[in-house]
Amino acid sequence: MRLQSVLKVKFGTTKHVSSREILWNKIIENIQMEANIYEFGVAYGYTTNYFLTRIKQNVKYQGFDLFTGLPTAWRNLARGTFSTDGNPPPIKDERLTWIIGDVTQTFTSEFELRAAKQNIFLFDFDLFEPTLHAYQVCKNQNLFCENSIVYFDEAFDPEELLIIQNYLFQDVELDLIGSTWGAVAFQVRKN
Ligand SMILES: C[S@@+](CC[C@H](N)C(=O)[O-])C[C@H]1O[C@@H](n2cnc3c(N)ncnc32)[C@H](O)[C@@H]1O
Repeated sequence: MRLQSVLKVKFGTTKHVSSREILWNKIIENIQMEANIYEFGVAYGYTTNYFLTRIKQNVKYQGFDLFTGLPTAWRNLARGTFSTDGNPPPIKDERLTWIIGDVTQTFTSEFELRAAKQNIFLFDFDLFEPTLHAYQVCKNQNLFCENSIVYFDEAFDPEELLIIQNYLFQDVELDLIGSTWGAVAFQVRKN
């Protein structure tokens, strides 16, 4: 089933908006003081910069990436696409920390978490394995607390949609914030 059909069946609506930026603005409106933001897949930092220049709250923003590009090809993108030669983007913000390396090694049950009343997850690794890995660590560490926000950039892709349907929908009670043709954002009701 396509993303729009999946959302219609689950929520009775798609809450469609015409761009990712409009959807991100809806997320930003809902960010609370002291929230933790996890950006899974940073590349050149477009999303990071968009969020940090608009969020006024004292959040902790952690950006996870290899910065050597996609470790395997994805759809029509070759291995290495998005590489910045191992260097994170030059974004200067005291709220920001880069977690550099393969997420399957940098984000595990050993990862030092900061307790927060709200967590924001921006999933944008493109690839299935790292996305599922990061999702499962979040789940196992009980990070999907009430009011947390979960965003998937490639929800149109059958593999990412599978994570949403077969894992997230089974594990967490959600409200729909909104969707574009390819991305979706949810808010956690309770778990
Ligand atoms: C689509 S890009 C992210 C785009 C970014 N969110 C933006 O809006 O500009 C996907 C990124 O995921 C990273 N990535 C993919 N697999 C990874 C893994 N196993 N560990 C860490 N980063 C990974 C790639 O290096 C790439 O930079």
